Amino acid sequence: MPMLIVQNLSGRKIPVAPGQTLLGAIQEQHIDWMHACGGKGRCTTCRIIVQQGLDNFGPLTEAELRYRAKGRLKNNERLTCQCTLAHGNATVKVPDQTKLPHLAYSS
Ligand code: FES
Repeated sequence: MPMLIVQNLSGRKIPVAPGQTLLGAIQEQHIDWMHACGGKGRCTTCRIIVQQGLDNFGPLTEAELRYRAKGRLKNNERLTCQCTLAHGNATVKVPDQTKLPHLAYSS
């Protein structure tokens, strides 16, 4: 099963089932994660910065394409409530702007 590796959460490895959103996989592991719109693709607070494995993601969703067009989602960013890992592992980072105050992040 593909693994999501969160670099600044001490390299935490999260298994992502086929077709499962990354946010779904993160929540299954009981990891707190910012998702202000409730996972509806209407904010960008659930986003990740992809360090490695950008090609391993499933296609951009309509919501992601919309934010890309507005310049609010960079080429190396994805929305965890929208995207899937289709082809292999990915290493990502939680952006500084969406870190939760009660969690301890590594570098
Ligand atoms: S939680 Fe709002 S876009 Fe993902």
